Amino acid sequence: MLKISTYRELECKNELLPLMDQAFHLPFNLKEFEKTVKIDPRVKNGPIGFCAIENEHLVGFVGVWDLPTRNLDGDLEYIGGVYGVATLPGYTRRGICTALMRTAHEYFRQKGYSFSFLSTVPTSVAYDLYKTMGYKDLIEFPSAYKIIPSNHAKTYKEKTREQPDLDKILKIYNEYSKTKTGFAIRDEEYLNALMRIEGINAKGCIVEEQSYVIFKKDKNGTQIKEIVALSAKYLEKLVEKVENNARTAVYDKAVMSNEVWQIYRKRKYMLLSRSNAVAMIKPLAAAVSFKQNYGDKFHVSGLDVGC
Ligand SMILES: CC(C)(COP(=O)(O)OP(=O)(O)OC[C@H]1O[C@@H](n2cnc3c(N)ncnc32)[C@H](O)[C@@H]1OP(=O)(O)O)[C@@H](O)C(=O)NCCC(=O)NCCS
Repeated sequence: MLKISTYRELECKNELLPLMDQAFHLPFNLKEFEKTVKIDPRVKNGPIGFCAIENEHLVGFVGVWDLPTRNLDGDLEYIGGVYGVATLPGYTRRGICTALMRTAHEYFRQKGYSFSFLSTVPTSVAYDLYKTMGYKDLIEFPSAYKIIPSNHAKTYKEKTREQPDLDKILKIYNEYSKTKTGFAIRDEEYLNALMRIEGINAKGCIVEEQSYVIFKKDKNGTQIKEIVALSAKYLEKLVEKVENNARTAVYDKAVMSNEVWQIYRKRKYMLLSRSNAVAMIKPLAAAVSFKQNYGDKFHVSGLDVGC
């Protein structure tokens, strides 16, 4: 008999390790997750997620976020967010994900939210499932890639400070996003949680007077997670600095502005206007219209959706 409980009520939390590893090939770190949920404003006051339990064991999960957005009237409006959707391989095609998603949508409706948001991979089975549940494509994330020659001279010195200048990053972001809707509202708590989830410290940030870039470096290359400038003229310098700091490749899997796209084009990146990530949105009531609520300036960055 299948039971559904919240993550907070879940007794076998350790079983998220095999569930998440099977679904996303990512070993799940429970201690880290528990620390993060205490400081992440998207989950810290909610159920965190819904869990499917059969014979006292965890067999499926759907995470829920309370996401702050700015609507067309300039008001703060919360929407629901879905993350970490997974069913154990031995339990698929039995309606577990469908039941958990219904529970998530019910939670959002109880909170008075008009929309549910998620990001996924358009080639996955989940994508078709979300479509049957009423989700529609919102943003296809364009991508850019560049190989960095191995003899590349490094001119940018990494900073040694542990904490990035979040105040300055926020100030620039809020100025940049003030005419946008969607994920255009950020405070320090939210930004701090995003940086923590991505494991980014001051070494992954270059912050200038009117611009910044947040990036993540590993043995496979340097991924730009967010690049923001109050004027396009500052963008190229930033991209150049990231390239000078990179060892093998630079890539950006959510190129969210035409200005950034043009800089990548100029600097000979390999560009993909469609890629294997898409953000989707579902109205939670018949009377609501996404277009009327957000217009066509709905903003979301790679940092917000973890891509
Ligand atoms: C996607 C996933 C969560 C689906 O879980 P599930 O519990 O099997 O989903 P449901 O049983 O509710 O499926 C509902 C419908 O989705 C479709 N569906 C689900 N899995 C499918 C598959 N492997 N092939 C084709 N259609 C599928 C079917 O239409 C199914 O209805 P049906 O079984 O009556 O034909 C699960 O396969 C999974 O964990 N995948 C790996 C992780 C992942 O991709 N997560 C989503 C990331 S955004």
